[in-house]
Amino acid sequence: MLLIGSSVAFSQTDVSGVQLKKVRDFSQLIINGKPFIILGGELGNSIASNMEYLKPFFPKIKSMNLNTVLAPVYWEFLEPEENKFDFSLVDGMITEARKNDMKLVLLWFGSWKNSMSCYAPSWMKTNSKRFPRTVDSNGRSHEIFSVFGKETLEADKKAFAALMKHIRETDFQQKTVIMVQVENEIGMLTTAREISKTANSYFNENVPPELMTYLQKNKDMLLPELKQKWQQYGSKQNGTWATVFGEGDGADEIFQAWYYAKYANEVAAAGKKEYNLPMFVNAALPRPGKRPGEYPSAGPLPHIMDIWQAAATSLDMLSPDFYNPDTKYWCDLYTTNGNPLFVPEMKLDESCAAKAFFIIGHYKALGFSPFSIENADGKVKEALGKSYDIINQVSEILFNRKWLSYDGLLVDKKDGAQQLQMGNYMLKVSHEYTMGWSAGAKDSVWPSSGVMIIQLTEKEFIVAGTGVVITFENKDQNKVTNLLAVDEIEIKAGKENFLLRLNGDEDHQGRHVRIATGNWQIQKVRLYDSPAKVDQ
Ligand code: DGJ
Repeated sequence: MLLIGSSVAFSQTDVSGVQLKKVRDFSQLIINGKPFIILGGELGNSIASNMEYLKPFFPKIKSMNLNTVLAPVYWEFLEPEENKFDFSLVDGMITEARKNDMKLVLLWFGSWKNSMSCYAPSWMKTNSKRFPRTVDSNGRSHEIFSVFGKETLEADKKAFAALMKHIRETDFQQKTVIMVQVENEIGMLTTAREISKTANSYFNENVPPELMTYLQKNKDMLLPELKQKWQQYGSKQNGTWATVFGEGDGADEIFQAWYYAKYANEVAAAGKKEYNLPMFVNAALPRPGKRPGEYPSAGPLPHIMDIWQAAATSLDMLSPDFYNPDTKYWCDLYTTNGNPLFVPEMKLDESCAAKAFFIIGHYKALGFSPFSIENADGKVKEALGKSYDIINQVSEILFNRKWLSYDGLLVDKKDGAQQLQMGNYMLKVSHEYTMGWSAGAKDSVWPSSGVMIIQLTEKEFIVAGTGVVITFENKDQNKVTNLLAVDEIEIKAGKENFLLRLNGDEDHQGRHVRIATGNWQIQKVRLYDSPAKVDQ
């Protein structure tokens, strides 16, 4: 086993030095007292199983201006024989991340990976008596560990705790590892809940008092789906799962979610006891029209978020993985109930570069991370690299908190102009191709544009992004607003450096702020107001 770093004395009173902290009305990731935005990318599933294979990809990933890699830790390699741990892959990853000056978010591929239990060690897979599997309605077993397997949970806790202890011993000082994902896309297939004899006996028990108390205490803030289900059956104070939530898929999913969340919570708590890093779980978002069991049900999904939050108090957040669904719709749902947003997976394509501005600017997300980052090439690689460079520069302004407000927008043809109110001004943000003369305006497909806008003082703004046109109007009809000056700037070591005065064609002779499609810029915009009507 390869050991890196030096082991430090640790007591339960030590804190990891990595935490989530509320700033104004959102959560920020703080590492050793300094805020940090994760400009990340997640590795494909298999590439981290051989460091010799993975190593050459680190410089490529670094060249895209990532500051963090999300990387799997496979249980089958971590504990190939029961109680014998091998940390060499984890150590190799930490070494490479440090060499390339990057942080790591580790993904614990433990009991479940995309519903299945494919990453469990072979000594577990081959002993279904000790580590029971789920059975479907035909009585056929699946390679999905039952959530009710007591020994399975104990084994998972033990392995995860060993991992966290090892990270603390080797990384406490350097803090290369900054967060950990517990399991991967937990979700029940092919039914909404397990239907074994054991599962049925749990289902016939009373809903645990802990959940009933949570429902009572938070009854005014419950998310609509759960509230409606509970009210539909008379807002009961106690009773079996079927009495409180009815019969059918809905109740089944709630029941299964409670036990998944409790399981993940116990694993997280066992790990945090060793080393208290922020931890989260991720979810596969359901496709429209699918029923629980057809989609991986009972995972940390918005409609059962309350169940997860009630059961899993050791988890810091619930995170969505984006493949096809509507970014805004799901991000809105995942930021209800005070859940901090972190996007561990986003389908890797050209639109990621624009989405990063929206997700970090609008939702104040802890970070953003396209999936299978080692495969980014061509335009996708270039665009993401440029967005990350720009966000990295403006993050210095975001962190100094000397701003009035900031926001982020995702802009494409179908959205038309979006309005954003900032102080006394109404901003209209459109795709750059809405300028009829833009090269590409006649193309049938418009690339996604994205921008982050920071209002520094009443009349000073930072506009950072790609492919947008912005106009500023005064909300006071007695005033007209024009551009006093628009400068392209860069931000280095906390200092703004002037690059170019953008006037004439670049701001359409003072009519609007513009960043061309295919261009990434930071612009500092100063406004002035004049009386709208003048008696001549
Ligand atoms: C979501 C999972 O979390 C990832 O590990 C991967 O399987 C992707 N889906 C798709 O390849």
